[in-house]
Amino acid sequence: MSILVQSYHALSAARQRRWRLVRRLLPRRVRWLYEGCLEVPGQLWYVDRKLLYGAIREHKPQVVFEVGTWYGGGSTYFISQALFENGSGVLHTIEENAEAHERAKENYQRHLPHLLPHVRFHAGKSTEVYPALLRETAKVDAVFLDGALDAKQTLTEFEMFAPRLEPGALLLAHDWDNEKMALLRPKLEAAAEWNLQARATAPESVGFVVWRRAEKK
Ligand SMILES: C[S@@+](CC[C@H](N)C(=O)[O-])C[C@H]1O[C@@H](n2cnc3c(N)ncnc32)[C@H](O)[C@@H]1O
Repeated sequence: MSILVQSYHALSAARQRRWRLVRRLLPRRVRWLYEGCLEVPGQLWYVDRKLLYGAIREHKPQVVFEVGTWYGGGSTYFISQALFENGSGVLHTIEENAEAHERAKENYQRHLPHLLPHVRFHAGKSTEVYPALLRETAKVDAVFLDGALDAKQTLTEFEMFAPRLEPGALLLAHDWDNEKMALLRPKLEAAAEWNLQARATAPESVGFVVWRRAEKK
């Protein structure tokens, strides 16, 4: 198990001060996954970030959709940084909290401008805003679900994306081990066309998964 369990932004102010004293002793890549961008708050813990970033680097999706931007320093950052390093690809991310959405956009303009060509920030509710965009999008290569703590909503979001997820597409999700996934999880676990590629669990994660849609035989 990694000694770096959570992430910099999950620490108390006192622990963040202590972290800043020792951070340079750690390898650059480890420090980066733990901290993200110091100026931009984000969720997801160390291992979740490692799996998410690694999956986007490995599979090189061109069209990625996310639910749940928050302030942009967690999943949005690790996906868009991976797309930037891949040299191509666009992430559509949505946030229904207007204040968080505005802060996320400002954070990227101010602190992460190199990622702007790879991210489109959408405001509103996933199931109201994305359907129009999906009608114009032939194929979605990866989806990351991290919206409300609401099992029905998460399942509805999956079903909205499912017709666009072809063989080889990725489905990634956070909170796999709590009630957010109570309806989606049994469905995917019983589905022959989805293969589990990677999973993180407690105490390193509250549940993070990478699923891949099976290639046609
Ligand atoms: C757990 S946080 C996301 C954390 C973020 N992925 C990160 O790594 O930092 C969930 C976010 O989803 C937003 N949200 C919840 N339901 C949503 C919906 N239906 N459409 C868009 N955003 C939603 C919430 O406002 C909240 O900011």
